[in-house]
Amino acid sequence: MRIPSTLLAAAFVIAVSATAQAEDKGKADVSQADLKAKTDYCKTCHGLSGQGFRGSYPMPRLAGQQPEYLQNQLHAFIDRNRTNPVMFNVAHVLSPPLQKALAEYFKDLNPKPLGGAPKELVAEGKKIYQDGIPKAEVPPCASCHGPDAKGADAFPRLAGQLHDYIFRQLTTWDKERGQDKAKPDNSAIMGPIAHNLTEAQIKAVAAYLSYLE
Ligand code: HEC
Ligand code: HEC
Repeated sequence: MRIPSTLLAAAFVIAVSATAQAEDKGKADVSQADLKAKTDYCKTCHGLSGQGFRGSYPMPRLAGQQPEYLQNQLHAFIDRNRTNPVMFNVAHVLSPPLQKALAEYFKDLNPKPLGGAPKELVAEGKKIYQDGIPKAEVPPCASCHGPDAKGADAFPRLAGQLHDYIFRQLTTWDKERGQDKAKPDNSAIMGPIAHNLTEAQIKAVAAYLSYLE
């Protein structure tokens, strides 16, 4: 017996729409229009394609960032565990599904790094990144942030990050991160490392990282 082709076509349409519905379920709370409006807003500070922006204050690159790390930072801003009045205002209105959608969105962007750091520091910075500074009890950065500095899960990507932003983070770590002592977070892992680096070493490693794609 032959099955009429119109029936086959109808069965196909039903099967496809059932899969589409299953796939949409997780994203149901965030429309593409809402996501675009938010990412356009993020980019007014974080630069075109989330590549970072260098004004009077360095705006970090978000492009290619690990989604888990990015969401951890949004939570830290909201909890004021990481103190930044601007990002508190931005983050505390974001619903959890929107936070997740934003993290996934920025993960997939891959613009060229802005660069701009003194090139003569790159070789020393590369050595610090790969070998650490044993005398100062600084482990190789690569052991946590990965050989190509792309990060993984809660370990942030550092490749292509703005050098002046990295310098600012590593010199102010204890004043801005992990501020709620009752709620220790991953910032405690990085604290002693930031502390044991000299400003010259930070400038070198930041210069190296700022050129990595
Ligand atoms: C008005 C400017 C402004 C807007 C708009 C803005 N940000 Fe930020 N954001 C900042 C500043 C400034 C910092 C750096 C804070 C610091 O120096 O510690 C930052 C830091 C961050 C960080 C931490 C980055 C890291 O590497 O640790 C994340 C994540 C972030 N922003 C996400 C977002 C998202 C997502 C949006 C859009 C919903 C957004 N920001 C919109 C100014 C802004
Ligand atoms: C033992 C693991 C470990 C090592 C080694 C390590 N880091 Fe980190 N680093 C982390 C973790 C975890 C975070 C995220 C902290 C958080 O979520 O608050 C981080 C965060 C950072 C940040 C902030 C990123 C951002 O976008 O704001 C910078 C910059 C950084 N590390 C640089 C370095 C450098 C440079 C070295 C080597 C000198 C290094 N790290 C070695 C674990 C490590």
